[in-house]
Order: sequence, then structure tokens, then C-alpha cells
Amino acid sequence: MSVPLLNLQAQFAAIREAVLPALLGVVERQQFIMGPEVGLLETAVAALCQAEHAVACASGTDALLIPLRLLDLQPGDEVISPAFTFFATAGAIHNAGGTPVFVDIEAGSFNLDPAAVEEAITPRTRAIVVVHLYGQMAAMERILAIAVRHGLVVIEDGAQAVGARQMIDGAWRAACSLGAVGTLSFFPTKNLGGWGDGGMMVTSDAQLAGRLKAHRLHGGTREYHHDEVGLNSRLDTLQAAVLLAKLPFLAGWSEARRSRAGRYTEALAQFAGITPPPTDPANEHIWHQYTIRAERRDALATHLKARGIGHKVYYPLALHLQPCFSHLGYARGRLPVTEAASDAVLSLPIYPELTDSQQDEVIRVIRTFYL
Ligand SMILES: Cc1ncc(COP(=O)(O)O)c(C=O)c1O
Repeated sequence: MSVPLLNLQAQFAAIREAVLPALLGVVERQQFIMGPEVGLLETAVAALCQAEHAVACASGTDALLIPLRLLDLQPGDEVISPAFTFFATAGAIHNAGGTPVFVDIEAGSFNLDPAAVEEAITPRTRAIVVVHLYGQMAAMERILAIAVRHGLVVIEDGAQAVGARQMIDGAWRAACSLGAVGTLSFFPTKNLGGWGDGGMMVTSDAQLAGRLKAHRLHGGTREYHHDEVGLNSRLDTLQAAVLLAKLPFLAGWSEARRSRAGRYTEALAQFAGITPPPTDPANEHIWHQYTIRAERRDALATHLKARGIGHKVYYPLALHLQPCFSHLGYARGRLPVTEAASDAVLSLPIYPELTDSQQDEVIRVIRTFYL
């Protein structure tokens, strides 16, 4: 039996009756740009993220780029970022005119190491982009305290963490509600995925929300009047309609992913060559990815491929070692925890529609490798 890494056709089969009429409604009204679904989605996502405002845009990459552009970064201004993340995190810093400063992650969580963040701060540091990788929030309490001490802006890259929560001071706090801005991606493979590109910026600062809104529409608040030079980065009404129709399913999907993750961890913890992803009880993980560390990772990947088991390495080359950032002068060995993760991680199929027998097959094939 082969098992795909992700099965969006199975998701579509389960939700077609909810999504197709919503799409048809947009087509019938023909309001493809900034139709009412965009505002409805913004309100719903703000509530999900425990924030006052949400501003939709064209992608998760633009959701990072726009608030970074609003910082008016000057040449040499630094923005701290993990190196163990999708490229967009650092690409956006670069494209906003800043210099990414890459710091190491914690061995357990795959997220920013707060101590490493503090060590990396210089007089040129302007902001910290915190990534909630694989669906689990970073150590926000400690990072926010560092940011306050040093007067830095915090942007939460929540592209992989829609609906994730963390217990802080006895209350569950949502991803994207804690920094100045939080950002989401609706790339089709995300836990809440559109049928194309899409993104969202979330904030509880009304003035900032107004600037984000203007910036996604060429920097103007009145038609044909421009206070600053912005972008054209709107979310299509069609995408907003798809996402609105999918949103009521998200909590159930996250629950199903949690149950799949629990099943994997119970089984895989028995194998000497594998470290299952650690989970912090103060975090409500949404399991965008289920990512193990595996001994002889590349050989295991070959073994899985030969037996039709979907898998992927997120991310094989950390950002401080990417050719496009070679001018920043990072050598291999500079971020040891990040580099060790790049060499050992392997993500396995985890999605709500994965059946018990498919998951058992994944576990069985891994067992045959380590026996
Ligand atoms: C951590 C992270 N940041 C940013 C992005 C960029 O999002 P998008 O692909 O919607 O531009 C992604 C996803 O692709 C991501 O995983």
C-alpha cells in the first residue's frame, strides 16, 4: 500500500458540498477583487487568532514583507530570524531592505532559542521574526521579554501554525496574537489552505492595521491618493470564499492531526534510531508537520520511497548556508543545532484523512528499516 505525504483530493471529497456553492456565489456576483468574503474572512481569522484586526493579502510571503517594509529598514539594519525555516522568512527580511541575522534553534522544539536571540542583538537590531515551525509555537514569553528589554519589534511567522496556542500566565494565547503582527499563509498544503496563494496579517494595533491595509493596496487610503508606495497584494475573493467555507472544519482537522501525532509517537518511540518530535504540554500543537529525527535519515528516505511512503525533508539546507546569503559570511558549524536538524529531520504523512491502516503501514515500513 502506498501512502501519500498529503492527500488534498480526500479533503476535497469531504468538503465539496460546503465549498463549491460558496465559490459559485462569487462567480455569480462577479466581484472578484475585495468582495465581501474578504472582510468576512478577516473578521473570522482575527477572532481565531484572538486579535482585533486581520488584513488579508496575496501570500504568506507578502504577509511578512508588508510589515517588514513598514519598519523602513535602512541598509545595515538587522532582523533576527531562525535559519531553520522556509526561505520566505529571511527572503522577506532581505526584500524589505534588512539584513537577516540567523540564530540557532532549540534542540527540542525546532524553534528559536531565546538565549541565542539575546546574544545576537546589536545596536543595529530592529526586529525579531519568530517562526512557529511545524505547528508548534516558539518560546514566546521569553522572546517577548527580550524584545521589550531591547525595544525590538516582534513579528510572528505563523504560516505553519494557524490556530496553535500556548499557555501563558494561565491562559491559552493564540499564535499571531502576541507579536506586533502575526502572519499566516494559506498556501494549499497549509492546515487552512486555499485553492491558490493567500495570506493574512493579524494585529491588535488599530493604527498598524490601517497601515497594513493601505500598504497592500499601493499605499493609499483614498482611491488614487498615495501616502506611501505600497504593493498590490490583495487576497482574491474566490480564495476568501474557499477559506471561509473551510474554516469551520479547521478545529476538527487539528484534533485529527493531534490524534495521528499521538499514535505515531507511541509507536515510533520504540525504535532506537528515531527521536519523535517532542511536545511541550504548554503548547497546543496543530501538527502542520510530524517531523522525526532519524539516524541514517537519507537511507531511511530511500527505503520509504522504494515502498511508496510519502515523506519530505523540511529543510535540507539551512538559510545561513544558502548561496544567496553567502555574502553574510556564515560558515558551516556556526549554527550547530540548526545544522544537525537539517541532517536528521524527516516529515511523515500527517493529515486528517490519513486512515489507521495507512498510518500503520508507514510505521511498519519504518520498523523494517530499523530491525
Ligand atoms: C514558515 C513559513 N513562512 C512563510 C511562508 C510563505 O508563505 P506563502 O507560500 O504563502 O508565501 C511559508 C509557507 O510557504 C512558511 O512555511
